[in-house]
Amino acid sequence: MLVIALCKGRFLDPSLDLLSRAGIRFADDVASSRKLIFQSDDKRFRAVLVKPADVPTYVEYGAADIGIAGRDVVMESRADVLQPLDLNFGFCKIAVAGPTENRTSATNPTIRVATKYPRITLDYFNARGIPVEIIPLNGSIELAPLIGLADRIVDLVETGRTLKENGLAVLEVIAESSAKLLINRAGYQTKRAEVLTLIQALEKARS
Ligand code: PRP
Repeated sequence: MLVIALCKGRFLDPSLDLLSRAGIRFADDVASSRKLIFQSDDKRFRAVLVKPADVPTYVEYGAADIGIAGRDVVMESRADVLQPLDLNFGFCKIAVAGPTENRTSATNPTIRVATKYPRITLDYFNARGIPVEIIPLNGSIELAPLIGLADRIVDLVETGRTLKENGLAVLEVIAESSAKLLINRAGYQTKRAEVLTLIQALEKARS
């Protein structure tokens, strides 16, 4: 039995579609259920539903053998997991965004940046020698520069619609992101045959 950690939220439907195409199906309606653990019809897999940012943790610690998560959360977590396969969905960018005109204070060179990616943000600005103060938030990041909480944001941009509708624009792209298959390092050795069979099935099934 392999345990697969799946993200709640916008990755759930494409993850379930991919698993279904690879022959892994669940009797329950995973997306609408309140249950957190689901057994596959063939009883070879157990899916667990977790917050996107927690998927790398479950896989790194071996609570799940396998996970599906965005590159963004893997980068932020710095989890030591294998990433053998890009799953061809969830394409977006991690970007610095803000008002198009520069509103930073001339007297204070430190830029205040709101984000749910504090490590990625700190690494990015540190590498450029730009003093930065991180304002950690968990959602609706685009609001921060609109009401004076931050000068900039670092956030995901998919269609760009949220930025546009809030009068913001991408200033710099930090990284491209998309859905990745994550594998626990130890499990890759001890459950090698099952893991390799799953990787091959997903590779065939991804669009
Ligand atoms: C994500 C992200 C942006 C938005 C980008 O937020 O944080 O706000 O999607 O998508 P777009 O470029 O297509 O507009 P999400 O919907 O996950 O909600 P959140 O604000 O709670 O993070």
